[in-house]
This record gives sequence, structure tokens and C-alpha cells, in this order.
Amino acid sequence: MSARREGRRLLPLLPNHPLGRAAVTCEYRCGNACAHDAPNTSDNQYFGDVLDGVLSRRGMLRAGAVVAAVGAAAATVGTGLAAADPGQGGAAAPGADRARWWGRVPGVNFEPVAPNHRDDLVVPTGYTQGVVIRWGDPVVPGAPRFDFDNQTAEAQAQQFGFNNDFCGLVPVPGSWNRWLMVSNHEYTSEEFMFRGWDKNNPTEEQTRIAWAAHGQSVVLVERDWRTGRLEAKVDGRYNRRITLLTPFEVRGPAAGSQYLKTSADPTGKRILGTQNNCAGGVTPWGTILSGEENVNQYFANVDKVTDPTARARLDRYGFPKGASTRKWERFDKRWDLAQEPNEANRFGWVVEIDPLDPQSTPVKHTALGRFKHEGANVIIARDNRVVAYMGDDERFEYMYKFVSDEKYKPGQSKHAREHNKRLLDSGTLYVARFTGDSPAGEIDGSGKLPSDGEFDGRGEWIPLAHNDKSFVPGMTAEEVYVFTRFAADKVGATKMDRPEDVEPNLRTRRIYAALTNNTRRGAAGQAGPDEPNPRNNNKHGHVLEIEEDRGDNTGTRFCWKLLLVCGDPQSPDTYFGGYDKSQVSPISCPDNVAFDDYGNLWISTDGNALGSNDGLFAVPLEGGERGHVKQFLTVPRGAETCGPVITDQFVLVSVQHPGEVDGASADNPISHWPDGGTSQPRPAVVAVWKKNRGTIGN
Ligand code: FEO
Ligand code: CA
Ligand code: CA
Repeated sequence: MSARREGRRLLPLLPNHPLGRAAVTCEYRCGNACAHDAPNTSDNQYFGDVLDGVLSRRGMLRAGAVVAAVGAAAATVGTGLAAADPGQGGAAAPGADRARWWGRVPGVNFEPVAPNHRDDLVVPTGYTQGVVIRWGDPVVPGAPRFDFDNQTAEAQAQQFGFNNDFCGLVPVPGSWNRWLMVSNHEYTSEEFMFRGWDKNNPTEEQTRIAWAAHGQSVVLVERDWRTGRLEAKVDGRYNRRITLLTPFEVRGPAAGSQYLKTSADPTGKRILGTQNNCAGGVTPWGTILSGEENVNQYFANVDKVTDPTARARLDRYGFPKGASTRKWERFDKRWDLAQEPNEANRFGWVVEIDPLDPQSTPVKHTALGRFKHEGANVIIARDNRVVAYMGDDERFEYMYKFVSDEKYKPGQSKHAREHNKRLLDSGTLYVARFTGDSPAGEIDGSGKLPSDGEFDGRGEWIPLAHNDKSFVPGMTAEEVYVFTRFAADKVGATKMDRPEDVEPNLRTRRIYAALTNNTRRGAAGQAGPDEPNPRNNNKHGHVLEIEEDRGDNTGTRFCWKLLLVCGDPQSPDTYFGGYDKSQVSPISCPDNVAFDDYGNLWISTDGNALGSNDGLFAVPLEGGERGHVKQFLTVPRGAETCGPVITDQFVLVSVQHPGEVDGASADNPISHWPDGGTSQPRPAVVAVWKKNRGTIGN
């Protein structure tokens, strides 16, 4: 133990990694996105600036009058985020209410885990844990046992992939203790997969192993109710691996687009594989949506693209010059933009897979637009249309939603499922514009609350396209769908601080968005602070709450407020829903969000800029406990907490990139989680449950 500690201390620190995340993670996960200029160089004006201009022209309008005016507007449309809503709690919550509910909000009653640097998954007192499945474990029947030093692409294509991110559960029909667990395998970190990795000379077999380690796994899991353990089964009926070689069907308005055609696919309707699948969601019809995120990093030679229009489009999505990090272009020309510039346009979509039908062809949904999709989460609106909320995870990018044309059919009959699986084919794509209700002079970039006591305001969803009709001047619908970032630039969407998970709370219809961080906010030549992104050099991120007017998720107007402004609770620039900051767990870099059965929000973190390990946190949203953040677990050293699933009997987390610390590698592992001893670290899904089999958080 002490030798290991010593080893850690001796590790050289690489320069220039901006936050808590290791530089090596930046390289493999997102192609060092933070080290490059943000690709959004549009000058679309923040709407608050417009409002501000109006106010300053009017002269002496007091802040209170502005708040009253906006509040009145909210009241006339019956929105619920106004201060009058007693259910919102927060700063104005009555003390009696707080005392009554102190520590007793259902679902979050556990002793918080303290920040730490342990090479372990640490859970609250009274809880226990078990690995469900880890990288290399068999998925389909006949899969060979994992052999770290003798990996093959053929074996990997039958085994659990690398760096699992999102995790979703779909109940097995007719069963009370079995689910299909779908995991995203977001990216590969070859330095941690292969001893003696030579980044300048990858072998073809290593490259093919990486292709097979991407994608998704569908795994049957069964809960043993005597032990509480959740076990992965090598099941022949449902289990499935999806890799970078699995055929996908392109659907929606841009299927067959000229921009999606390549020499290998002149139809523009059939794409091999999915990659960088980050977060996702389980649909009400029992399929899985997943976002293709940092896809740009896998392509090479944007500087050799000669068509200026194609080049500008690739630049807006951050495609790199010269060779790619992994050099895949040496083994398949589709990764070489000089040869196949349209291949780039075939990634960056939301994909849907049906785990209940292992023979089904997975789908890429063009109606949901193309950007660095973090994920997509669906709610059934009151009129039974479905609405998907989405974030584009890059600095100064945007938040989106899609509203279907057709209505959801209840039930899991074959007829209903086939209908529902078409819901995302046609509808309207929107992007969000936020307006603050406080004078811009009060949003000074320090994180200091404005005089009305909250970062809050109004917003609107701006339509971009409806099927073959574009609402964006100068762009066809096809262009809106394939080059969605340009469309959002043109309509003046609000530049956000890395919108990651955007997820509706099914109990309240409110929407919660994790805005992970943005250290370029307020930097020279970059957008400055605004009320929805109020801190310059935003290292710790924030969590945003949206309430659609009249609770209508299909509508175009909403109220919003910041639930959390993350970081050290002792720092004046943090805010915890108005809750007593001396009572909360420190939280930094919110990434994934989830809800328990009671409607409490759970948040996982990526790259904790406070220096300790990443974790999973729970926070009540209602009443006097609103904002009381408590840490439920921490993940091992170098790892990120992903894909939380909160049930009343167990919590699932994806432990992504354990041991991915600068200076570490397969030749010098710094983590030995989960197998201990001298083993290599392996990304894994972990279940946490109560030792006494009691319900989680009670
Ligand atoms: Fe894959 Fe947005 O994190
Ligand atoms: Ca305000
Ligand atoms: Ca994420």
C-alpha cells in the first residue's frame, strides 16, 4: 500500500490539463477539446444583451421593476417556477418545513460519503457493492475468457467493451428480477489496453480491437434476491454486441442525404457502427437512445479537404488536422477526410437500439439533429406526443429538444412498439434561447447572486426544422439536420457551458441539465457571463432547471433557474438551491443526471476540479431540503462516474476509465480496481445495494 502511494507521488504530471480530469483522458476521450479553441466562433447575440440594450435605452428601470415585469409575464402564462410556488422551496422555504423534513426526504436518507482519493468504490455505511460486468467479460455465448495479454478483435467483439458510460435497464417481459442492461462503450484508451503501446505505430489488430471495443453491449442481468447481488448472464436469446462494424439504418428527414453518401454507401442510408456513445436514455417503449459525442477525434486530415464549404462545416464540428490520435486512417480510408469527407457526417447522431429484439437493425435518427450529442431523454407530453431533450457537450454549444408529430401508443404490444419506434422519425427540432431576468450589470462573472436572489429567467425554444421544412434562413432542412450547429448559430441560440445530460423529471415534467464546466467563459474573444452561465472561468459547472409553460413539454416558452452552482460550498461563488451550504457535500463538474422513484435528482460527476475522486450525489428538489446535496459514492482513482441508474432496490454506476491518470499506463498501472493485487484496472458496471436489502435511501 505504501509502495503504491509512493508510486503515485512519483508520477510525472503532464502540463496543461485544465481541470480535475487527467490530460490522458482529455486526449483519448475528446481529442483534447479543451486545449483547442472552442469551434463555436459565431457571434450570435445573447438575448440578455438585447434585453439589456432595451433597458439601458429606457434609462432608469430598476432591477425590481424588471423582475416584477418578467414575473408578471410568467404569471400570466401560469408557469410554476415563480417564487410563489411553495413546492419550490429554496431560499424562501419556511424554516418549519425545513425542520420537519430534515434528513427525512424519502430516497436520500444515507450518511454522505466524504471526498477521498481511494482506489476503491466507496459507498455509505450499511451499503454493499458488487461488480456486475467489466471490460472483457463474456457477453455472447462462446465468447472467450478475457486475456489481457492476448487480446484479439474477434474475442473483443463478443466481450464487454471498453470505457462503459451510459447504462440503462429494460425489464425482461414476464420477469420480476431480470433486465436487459445496455451499456455504452464510449471510447478506447489504448495506452491502458495494451502493454508497450506505441502511439505512432498501432498495429492493425490493435486497431480492430479498438473498433470492437466501441459501441454498446446488451447483457441480461438477474438479481439474486437472497444476496442482493446483480449478476450478468451470458444469455443466448438477448445478449448482443454492437461495434464499429455493426450496420445501422439511417432514418428521418436526412436519410439518403447527399451529405451522407460515401463510396462505401452510395445510398447514404446504411452506416457501419456507432462511436463515442456517451449518455443516453431509456424510452417509454423500451428502447435505448444514445448520443454519439466526440466523434471528430477519430478522423484525420481535415486540412487536406479542398472544398471550402465542406471544410468550414468540418471545422465547426472540430475535426482535427493531420493524423488522428489513434491512426485508424491507416487501416480504413473512411477515417481519412481527404478521401471520404462525408464519412464525418455519418457520426454525431442519436442512435436507437431495441434490446428486446436482438435481430433488429439499430437506427441513426437524423430528425434529432447532428452535433456532439451527449444523450437524449424522452418524456410523453400531455397530448401523448413525445419530446426528447438533448445537449451538445462542448464549450459554448447549445441545448435542443425534439417534438414528435405522432402520438405515443401505450402498452408493449408488437403493434404499439412498432408504432412507437417510428416516433422519432418525424417532428420538429428546436434549440434553446435563455433570457435572464436580472440586469446584466449584476451578472459580473464572479458567481455573486443578483439582487433578486437567483440566477433565473425565461426562455424559448426556437424551431430549426420540421421534416423537410427549414425555419432557418439560408439553410435547407437537409442542411439544418446534418449541420445543426450552423442552424443554431443563425437563430441566436444561447451559448452554454458544456450541456451534458438534459433529462426530464417524469414526476414534475421539469427538465434538468448538467452544464459541466467552461474555463473559457469570459476569456478574451469568448462569450462573457450571462445569467444562465454566470461564472467566468467556470471550473465546476452548474445544474439548470427548466419548467415549460403550463407544464406543456411540446411548447415553446419556459422558465428556468439554476438549481446548483457547483464547487466548494465554502466559496462565495457556489449556490445550492438556497440550502445551508455548511450542510452539503462538495460537488464539481456535474455530468449525468438521473431521478429516483421519489423524484429526487441524482448527479454523477466527471473530472472533479476540487481534486478528490469523482462521485454520485443525490439532491432533493422539493420542499425545505431542496439543494441539500449528499454524496452517495465515490469511484476509484482516475475514474469517472457515469450512467447512474437509481431503483428502489439498487443503484448502478458505470465506472469509466479507472486508473486513467497522467503518467500511468498498462505498463505502469496506478489503479488495480476492481480485481486488486497487481491486476490491470478495468472499466466496469457496479451495483450498490443495502446490506439489509432495504430500499435505497430509506
Ligand atoms: Fe462523454 Fe459529455 O461526456
Ligand atoms: Ca435573476
Ligand atoms: Ca458524459
